Amino acid sequence: MVLKSQQYDDVYFSAQDGFAETRYVFLDGNDLAARFAALGAGDVFTVGETGFGTGLNFLAVWALFAEYAPAGACLRFASLEKFPLAPDVIREALQPWHKDIGAQLDAFLAAYTEAPHEDFVASFNDGRVSLWIGIGDAPDCLSRAKGGVDAWFLDGFKPSSNPDMWTQEVFDHAARLSAPEATLASFTAAGFVRRGLAQAGFDISKRAGFGRKRDMIVGRLRSETEDAPCI
Ligand SMILES: C[S@@+](CC[C@H](N)C(=O)[O-])C[C@H]1O[C@@H](n2cnc3c(N)ncnc32)[C@H](O)[C@@H]1O
Repeated sequence: MVLKSQQYDDVYFSAQDGFAETRYVFLDGNDLAARFAALGAGDVFTVGETGFGTGLNFLAVWALFAEYAPAGACLRFASLEKFPLAPDVIREALQPWHKDIGAQLDAFLAAYTEAPHEDFVASFNDGRVSLWIGIGDAPDCLSRAKGGVDAWFLDGFKPSSNPDMWTQEVFDHAARLSAPEATLASFTAAGFVRRGLAQAGFDISKRAGFGRKRDMIVGRLRSETEDAPCI
């Protein structure tokens, strides 16, 4: 049975197949395989996420990075979490995908030995992959986060059950922390989320959702020159 949050009465990922959902919504939604393959040695790619949960997205993006990025490129993953899960809960929840992300899961859990009470930092693969999890409420964590985010995973439970994760303040932080040409993907296509992200500075479009979900969204940070008047 898929893990459900007691606080939000919502599932952490699709009951159909969480790993397939992660790949479809967040990895493909940000075109990460091609972007990782285009990196050069010494390049750093940064992913920002709202809602670490079980770490499934982190572990999946790390596995994809290992497959596609050249040696010498680095992955930074910055997430946040108000209710960190215990390691044994994470291991059990991700057991169905051990063949896909087992190496990453084992390395992660060797560092994540208890639910953290303060911001969690770790690095893996000789520093090639680094992880920061801000612990606390989303806006507070985002105000402490470093910028330069190339791709956003907006994954904070359904907006209807968790409106606090989908506020204009959060969207504005995402835009502020973005690198030029940053992209985003989210499983939700709720109208107020699309409008808020557009107001923050992202061009947003809908595409077919995963499984039974009709829509999801992808977005790209608008470049300042696109808004500039012709003179
Ligand atoms: C859908 S789950 C994330 C799933 C996750 N990305 C994964 O790979 O398992 C949403 C997460 O956001 C966290 N969360 C919800 N509201 C939050 C808030 N206001 N501030 C920080 N974290 C929050 C929840 O505790 C939960 O772990």
